Amino acid sequence: MLVVGGSASEDLAKNISDELDCEFISVEKKRFPDGEIYVKIPGEVEGEDVVVVQSTYYPPNQNYMELFLTLDAASDLGADKVTAVIPYFAYARQDKRFEPGEAVSRVTVSKLIESAGADEVFTLELHSTEIGEIKDLFEIPAHNLTAAPTLAKFIERNFDLVDPVVMAPDEGAKEWAEMAGDSIGADWDYMVKEREGPEDIDITPRELSVDGRDVLVIDDIISTGGTMSEAVSIIRENGARKVYAACTHPVLTGEAPDNIEEAGAEEVISTDTIESEASKVSVAPVFAEAIRE
Ligand code: R5P
Repeated sequence: MLVVGGSASEDLAKNISDELDCEFISVEKKRFPDGEIYVKIPGEVEGEDVVVVQSTYYPPNQNYMELFLTLDAASDLGADKVTAVIPYFAYARQDKRFEPGEAVSRVTVSKLIESAGADEVFTLELHSTEIGEIKDLFEIPAHNLTAAPTLAKFIERNFDLVDPVVMAPDEGAKEWAEMAGDSIGADWDYMVKEREGPEDIDITPRELSVDGRDVLVIDDIISTGGTMSEAVSIIRENGARKVYAACTHPVLTGEAPDNIEEAGAEEVISTDTIESEASKVSVAPVFAEAIRE
């Protein structure tokens, strides 16, 4: 087996190869003056199981093009099997046609990944997709993994948690709160919004009290930080002792980390699907374990 690291995920790809105890090659990439890119896999891939690791965070179009070129090169050069590891899967949010005439980008990129030569796909916390097999998008085996237990275990190991509760900032994130809570033997809950008047919205933990307890708020993604800041501040108002904000994908635009800390979080902790200041937890073991299986 051979791990090929794309330019958006070199460190993570190297860590995955270390976990799998196999050779690592970094893709050679150049950019032409007209904006086109050149990609080369500088090593022997014929007859190998090749794992291409490339996140498709900013700039998504370029990162996807590099992924397509690398998958196709690996397949065309005679790899036995080509596996695409896409830690952050861009274009996943447009998952249906909301208005006539719209492109359903999540379906389009899935077709392109498959036709570029991927025989199997692994991603993490794919937008609004249940953890497990992704049967509706790909004909090839495709897996949506989770980093929720890994994040929770990291926080449990590194902070002296008092009577911890794992909290999802909304109902959509409760699957991760449940998995994270179960992995460290902690209670879990999610926050609910109740409208008591046109401008009177009450957001509270659904049933558990957070008073005097340490709370880990977990979501798949923090983008502007609005959702997380609101959740953190309400949890603090409800008497929580310390609050930790965790997510898989640290998009973290603008002042998101500062705003979350100002809302009352001790720290923002994320994985390395996107490289950021908050990337304190590597998902290399999550991908390596799934690939090994
Ligand atoms: C929503 O579906 C997601 O799970 C996140 O809660 C959301 O994308 C976070 O966005 P923001 O940080 O901009 O509030």
